Amino acid sequence: MMRNIVCFAVVLVVADLYLTSGRFVNYVPNDRLEDAKDKVSVGDELTALEDESLDSGVTKNSRNLLNHLIPTREKRKAVKDSSRRWTNNEIPFEIDYFQFNKDEVQIIYDAMYIWQHHTCLRFRPRETHDRNFVKFMKGEFCYSTTHGMNGGQQNISLPQVCFNRQSTLHEIGHAIGFYHEHKRPDRDQYITVHEENIEDKFKYAFEKSNEIETYGLPYDYTSIMHYPWNAFSKNNEITIQTKDPSFQNIIGQTQDLSYYDIQLANLMYNCR
Ligand SMILES: *[C@@H]1O[C@H](CO)[C@@H](O)[C@H](O)[C@H]1NC(C)=O
Repeated sequence: MMRNIVCFAVVLVVADLYLTSGRFVNYVPNDRLEDAKDKVSVGDELTALEDESLDSGVTKNSRNLLNHLIPTREKRKAVKDSSRRWTNNEIPFEIDYFQFNKDEVQIIYDAMYIWQHHTCLRFRPRETHDRNFVKFMKGEFCYSTTHGMNGGQQNISLPQVCFNRQSTLHEIGHAIGFYHEHKRPDRDQYITVHEENIEDKFKYAFEKSNEIETYGLPYDYTSIMHYPWNAFSKNNEITIQTKDPSFQNIIGQTQDLSYYDIQLANLMYNCR
């Protein structure tokens, strides 16, 4: 049996479609860009509840996710520390092009495109003078080495086992500065965490954090940053129960940024 390693989260980012000025950089081939645009227009209509993925079976998707995601000890939703914001809202990135195939690179581009389409964040290829940047690579697990801008190179690891658009968006979320939704200080009003079913070594991943800045946004079951119902379960029993049962099959299933994910990023980065 595969160990339920949740990787939800951490870092990812890749891409680079625009310069800060908003001009296209001729770095991403046009056909890729067109593809990404098509996908984004679908995502535009997205509100969490309309997302088709919400109807999909919990088991398949959440397992899929669980097997990819590894929590880090860092806490997530929006990091309070404003020095963790990316300078000028620009996220320089590198991709290890030897490790990713063409389809994978496309998914990374798409995910970056989606984040920047909905926010004032801009991904661009790292230039030599950029000291702080994100590197997309394939490590052992799916993770992001930090959240928000940490200084120097920060890695987003996306091995095959967890490589999909959902985890890519999620890991980029961490790089931007997002915490996991269920770590919000007010989470007990919305979910019940079943400690007895959690693997001991991952219990820390379910701790609440007072370091989270929510910007007054509501708890969001549909966030790309939410764990699924069976995250790090040691016995296949439920680890996260939603107080509103109608969201039980929704947490951890979202394939796109939610309405509030987008709002949060815009608030963090003063987009408007
Ligand atoms: C990122 O990956 C590189 C190359 O594997 C490694 O040398 C470096 O220590 C990693 N950085 C972090 C913060 O883990």
